[in-house]
Amino acid sequence: MPMAFPQTRMRRLRASAGLRGLVRETDLRAGQFVLPLFVAEALNVTGGREPIATMPGVERLSLTAAVAEAQEAAALGIPALMLFGLPAEKDEQGSGAWEEDGVVQMAVRAIKQAVPELLVITDVCLCEYTTHGHCGVLRDDAGAPHGQDVDNDASLELLARTAVSHARAGADIVAPSDMMDGRVRAIREELDGKGLSRTPILAYSAKFASAFYGPFRDAADSAPAFGDRRGYQMDPANGREAVREALLDVQEGADMVMVKPALAYGDLIRAVKRATRLPVAAYNVSGEYAMVKAAAAAGYLDERATVLEILTSLRRAGAEVLITYHAKDAARWLAEQS
Ligand code: PBG
Repeated sequence: MPMAFPQTRMRRLRASAGLRGLVRETDLRAGQFVLPLFVAEALNVTGGREPIATMPGVERLSLTAAVAEAQEAAALGIPALMLFGLPAEKDEQGSGAWEEDGVVQMAVRAIKQAVPELLVITDVCLCEYTTHGHCGVLRDDAGAPHGQDVDNDASLELLARTAVSHARAGADIVAPSDMMDGRVRAIREELDGKGLSRTPILAYSAKFASAFYGPFRDAADSAPAFGDRRGYQMDPANGREAVREALLDVQEGADMVMVKPALAYGDLIRAVKRATRLPVAAYNVSGEYAMVKAAAAAGYLDERATVLEILTSLRRAGAEVLITYHAKDAARWLAEQS
């Protein structure tokens, strides 16, 4: 006979910090964090940093400031950065994405030189580099609502070229976020063909067309000039499809997979983890960050407790890797606790 109340009392193991610690199922460590950085080419002239209005506490950085930020992250025990670039100029093709002296390539070299042990992950996408703000190149399509559509197969070559240029600059991991079909395979083939078979791919496998990216598009100046991203990013209503996307990326050669956004997608972190058996990253995106910061600033939430609870919940859902703008604060709070 299974015992229930009054023999069973769940509160027994909650009675002290020692007991709670002993039976805690989930750990949260700075060693699981990835800190995203925005490096802006235009700031290299003036130097320094520029605040991002929609993401209090996050700044666009010059190369020098990015190196300083990298050093600070490493000192806090954060093992990895995720780099996003804002080029000085954009064009139709997004050619700034694969230039040898592009903003991300320069930042990778500078950071790897200054802090070699810090892992540098690069976001592979064209949206920050194209004048139209879409994640691939366009082609005329009379049937499309705006007369143009993102050309999947033509974009693959450019994305692969971008990934190779990042890896050549010294990126430890490349992370395609464009959501074109076949991009993991295209990138894997191009890396391998160029002698870069040791560079892992972190695929943004289940990336949803989400309202939670709003602040990022302000930060990275990457909002689409027309239309939206629903023709390539996923429908937030679809969970089975997310698993399918992740399994396809595994077949194409992904080393790690990602679910993005994170907070409203814990079910899919779990489902993707179970189906793929690969390391899973959860991207705690700009809008999730902005909500907490706004509520904390208004006095509605305790920022520290909220952030640690959110990050713990993503670990509990099954993510090994947590990509979060809270990384530095959370690392400091965890260090104070121990
Ligand atoms: C680029 C990209 C985006 C994010 C990461 N890579 C924006 C988008 O797809 O519109 C979002 C990150 C965030 O919101 O923090 N494609």
